[in-house]
Amino acid sequence: MDPMTIAETGPEGAPTFDRLHKCGVIPVVTIDRVEDALPLGEALLAGGIPCAEVTFRTAAAPAALNALAGALPHLLVGAGTVVTVEQARTAIDSGGRFVVSPGYDEDIVQWCLARDVPVLPGVMTPTEVMRAVRTGLDAVKFFPAEPAGGATALEAIGAAFPSVRFVPTGGIGPENLGSYLRLPAVIACGGSWLVSRGLIGAGDFGQITQLAGEAVQLVREVRGE
Ligand code: 3PG
Repeated sequence: MDPMTIAETGPEGAPTFDRLHKCGVIPVVTIDRVEDALPLGEALLAGGIPCAEVTFRTAAAPAALNALAGALPHLLVGAGTVVTVEQARTAIDSGGRFVVSPGYDEDIVQWCLARDVPVLPGVMTPTEVMRAVRTGLDAVKFFPAEPAGGATALEAIGAAFPSVRFVPTGGIGPENLGSYLRLPAVIACGGSWLVSRGLIGAGDFGQITQLAGEAVQLVREVRGE
């Protein structure tokens, strides 16, 4: 990613992946109660992370997306754990701006491409990357990043695909974030460590802001900003 692209377009008009790159970290959120959505989004913004991936693992996900997209225009919200085209449709209808899947599903990818919806299907192997490239994608999620071999594996796989960018997710936290962000092909790292279900359930939004701020600091240090 050319940093100038981001600087020239500004965070609001910048393409989705540029904005995610600027964040460096994508909080992977699972919301059980819709009323937690807004305080959570505000906590992330206060900590300096203007993006979130709301997973479709709970019934509250569409309403949470809707609440965030409607009330916090500076927060870039997308849908995660999207495993059907119907969920992708619901996510976009609810205000989601990008779609993330744990695996590669041709129907979801084609549905998104036909509508110019940025999509990050999960891949773990070179074969899956080749399938994504053949369909016309130049960005994918690397999942589950740590069990799949971590930054070492991603670097080796990425070397074979110089035009592909990655969003590693799964098992990432403050201790290994830097190993991924050092790779130029990495757009941003997904992770739930700063927005755990426990913290959200307990209403500990101050701690979420704290963890978000620490993540931002790590991103800056690794990227030399
Ligand atoms: C995901 O759905 O992307 C992962 O569950 C997030 O992984 P993590 O909980 O290990 O950060």
